[in-house]
Amino acid sequence: MIRPVRKAVFPVAGLGTRFLPATKALPKEMLTIVDKPLIQYAVEEALEAGIEEFVFVTGRGKTTMEDHFDHAFELEQVLGERGKDGALRQVASATLKPGQISFTRQQKPLGLGHAIWCARNFVAGEPFAVFLADDLILGKPGVLKQMVDAYNVVGGNVVGVEDVPREMTNRYGILDVVEDDGRLARARGLVEKPDPAEAPSTLSIIGRYILQPEVFEHLERHEKGAGGEIQLTDAIARTIGDIPFYGYRFSGDRFDCGSRRGFIEANIAFAMQIDGLRDQVCDVLKKYSRTPRKIYE
Ligand code: UTP
Repeated sequence: MIRPVRKAVFPVAGLGTRFLPATKALPKEMLTIVDKPLIQYAVEEALEAGIEEFVFVTGRGKTTMEDHFDHAFELEQVLGERGKDGALRQVASATLKPGQISFTRQQKPLGLGHAIWCARNFVAGEPFAVFLADDLILGKPGVLKQMVDAYNVVGGNVVGVEDVPREMTNRYGILDVVEDDGRLARARGLVEKPDPAEAPSTLSIIGRYILQPEVFEHLERHEKGAGGEIQLTDAIARTIGDIPFYGYRFSGDRFDCGSRRGFIEANIAFAMQIDGLRDQVCDVLKKYSRTPRKIYE
């Protein structure tokens, strides 16, 4: 029997070193693409896929996230009095239902696997989704919905995958594929950040996972992997053989918003989707691309 995916874990306790000083007091996932924080895009994608319970694993800046997904009474009252209905709708769009969202602390940033392990009591023995919100994906339907539809047919562990250039395999978890129909690839193994020469394929895991709770049995051991961190991919790899493992090639455009280039690209791409903003952004880009301008003079 394939059990439904009702819960999602959002690890947001990373150090975010590539975005310092912005991430000194603020989680990277609160950085905005145009006017919405990365974490809200992820929560909206999860809601679209039918997720009912949200678990955030936090480090710094927990309160900004708690506030973001809560009612903002004073703000809502003032906007209401001033008849700012559009703004009020924007504020309401980021509110989750009472009891629908939980927070736990990672305490020490020991790696993604450790962050997920911290959510074990909330997941409580059910299949669950994991979102890395800095992987922002424009997809219709959203990527988790695509993956849930595939999972409801095949079950097991399903991860979102993308082909990367071979020279980049040492940045990702890479699948060792046995069967591939172009959309779903069944794998017999998984290697974290392999050297290009040793990578079993170029199919890399991106920030979406549907996992069975058995993965916690392996995370429990707190074994360190690549980079001295407790890796989620190592725990998933250990379940292969007991639990079928698939990579799902999603349709959509992915932006690696954990890097400055990806973050800026996402801002431009998302702004270009907005009527009324598109032309202004084109003008700005033309202005700065004609000749490199020094803005401080
Ligand atoms: P990254 O590898 O992007 O690391 O984490 P990072 O610390 O966020 O950013 P940089 O590389 O220092 O700039 C991938 C995901 O795992 C979470 C992060 O919040 C991010 O969503 N994470 C990572 C944790 O929650 N805890 C950890 O100990 C490590």
